[in-house]
Amino acid sequence: MKKEYMITTERLGLRRWLAQDLEPFVEMNRDPKVMEFLPKQLSRAETEQFLDRIEKHFSTHGYSLYAVDNRISGDFVGFTGFQWATFISDFTPCVEIGWRLPYRHWGKGYASEAAAACLHHGFQVLDFPEIVSFTSVINLRSIAVMKRIHMKFRFRFGHPKLPPEHRLYEHVLYAMKREEYSSAHHIDRCVLNG
Ligand SMILES: CC(C)(COP(=O)(O)OP(=O)(O)OC[C@H]1O[C@@H](n2cnc3c(N)ncnc32)[C@H](O)[C@@H]1OP(=O)(O)O)[C@@H](O)C(=O)NCCC(=O)NCCS
Repeated sequence: MKKEYMITTERLGLRRWLAQDLEPFVEMNRDPKVMEFLPKQLSRAETEQFLDRIEKHFSTHGYSLYAVDNRISGDFVGFTGFQWATFISDFTPCVEIGWRLPYRHWGKGYASEAAAACLHHGFQVLDFPEIVSFTSVINLRSIAVMKRIHMKFRFRFGHPKLPPEHRLYEHVLYAMKREEYSSAHHIDRCVLNG
């Protein structure tokens, strides 16, 4: 199947998932380094179920977590994209932007580059009034991506799907409203500033 990108950046292409993505996706989700700040490593069956949920989200909404390619090498660079939060809280329903990259692709600016392009797409094409992102307070690399794309810290919260004693229970929520985006730095600056 031909790769049809829905969003492109200087180095990356974001698209619907293809059969060939399954193996690197399974590898990424079973890597303890990648999953350090997520509740657990995923088995092959769990990754397949995750992929089903991503596809259902695409079918329902027209957007989801996009598979990310390096457009030059064709290498799988994980996912970045949108999903509706899957729990009930005083700030839901909300659209969350999220990212996960294979470990070998960390430290190259890919997550921030893909996320900045997604923010642009989310506000300019999908017309979201607000986009949020949240993660465990100890997931500093993910928080750094939020800051790099100029999302603003809003509050801390305890994740409703985790018990209070869980090491990942305490979360931070960052957000950006559409009107804040128009005054934010241009996409290129997110990439160039690192
Ligand atoms: C969160 C995650 C995507 C962040 O990856 P990352 O590599 O730190 O982030 P980026 O891809 O934006 O890269 C930024 C780094 O690349 C460097 N970099 C190199 N070339 C760059 C360029 N051209 N442009 C921008 N940054 C560049 C930056 O200086 C920065 O380095 P630093 O971390 O030493 O400060 C990654 O850690 C991950 O997949 N984690 C597991 C999944 C996860 O926790 N997701 C969130 C759960 S809610």
